[in-house]
Amino acid sequence: MLTFPDGFLWGAATAAHQIEGNNVGSNWWVHENEPGTTIVEPSGDAADSYHRYREDMRILADLGLNSYRFSIEWSRIEPERGLVSRASIDHYRRMVDAAHEFGIEPIVTLMHFTVPRWFETDGFWRAPDAADLFARYTELALPVVAEGVNYVCTINEPNIAAMLAGGEDASNLVAYGLPKPDLFVADALLESHRRSREVLSQVSGLKTGWTVATQAFEAATLADGTVEPGAAEKLHEIADPAENWYLTSIKGDDFVGVQAYTRNIVGPEGIRPPKPEVEKTLTQWEYFPAAAGIGVRAAWELSDHVPVMVTENGIATQDDARRIDYTRGALEGLHACIDDGIDLLGYQHWSALDNYEWASGYAPTFGLIAWDKETFARTPKPSAAWYGEVARNNGL
Ligand code: NOJ
Repeated sequence: MLTFPDGFLWGAATAAHQIEGNNVGSNWWVHENEPGTTIVEPSGDAADSYHRYREDMRILADLGLNSYRFSIEWSRIEPERGLVSRASIDHYRRMVDAAHEFGIEPIVTLMHFTVPRWFETDGFWRAPDAADLFARYTELALPVVAEGVNYVCTINEPNIAAMLAGGEDASNLVAYGLPKPDLFVADALLESHRRSREVLSQVSGLKTGWTVATQAFEAATLADGTVEPGAAEKLHEIADPAENWYLTSIKGDDFVGVQAYTRNIVGPEGIRPPKPEVEKTLTQWEYFPAAAGIGVRAAWELSDHVPVMVTENGIATQDDARRIDYTRGALEGLHACIDDGIDLLGYQHWSALDNYEWASGYAPTFGLIAWDKETFARTPKPSAAWYGEVARNNGL
């Protein structure tokens, strides 16, 4: 039996836009409904979790999980610049209260990719007042996290956001690790994070950090196992510490969220799609359960030992037995991290529910829980029961 530390946070993660439904004030809603968009389908009602969050949390609690990572939606709280929705703040406060009612620790993300339409129109992360606006939004969100919340994630995957800022097309959102980050936007995100943490420090005991997409890069090898000519140089270029600003600049944070799914093989030409013979998931990523452990080790080292939480890890598949195998493999890797002295706070499986996978629509199913498109009725998958058992036993 591999036992995890006492108090380990066993949970599942979601993001507002991917499950709530009808998130009409967000920039993504605009893009997914634009004529000619490359986004395969609009999010629409999603899983209607805006109304069904109690049912969703109850299922997680009944399974045996002790935590739930969800995000709150800036565009609902501030639908127009300066216009505040008290009702939306109350809604998210009720979510925190519901989590406690069901005995689960709420882990709240302030911004999970989506921003209000007006924020994008007014210049997005390039606007001179972007950090002021994010700090003000954090102030508005304070009542949500002021009591009974121990962990707040400010910005989800800033490194992906900074890469995407290089291009105009939001549908690139799934193109992990490809473009170079826009360093101006990276600075704006860091400053927004810093300012947001400052606001959050008004709440005593609150632990704050951000959640990053870690990338396991490996140099391509030839049939005899030696590194392909030019691959090591390219790997060095891509994995240059300057490219890890999102981990090296957060040394004072209370924790860092690691989100890891797969690995990327780097040839002399750059990142290479997985070979045809390699097992791939529905997102076309290599099936690679070791990603979580590799991501945690990288975050721990580069951040100079900031405590780590796995805030996302999972697999898009219709074969639920593979989800179990993948998760078991990931957890074994994480247990080895703990054995090696890494301060690992918890594991939030991505995702609680099948959800809207951005530009890829609903086809890549990451959920522990399925739901019916017509009735929204929830059905936990066998992997959910398996994972709940792991959580109850605090180990596997
Ligand atoms: C990263 C993102 O935070 C999440 O929104 C996305 O659905 C998953 N990983 C899977 O791609």
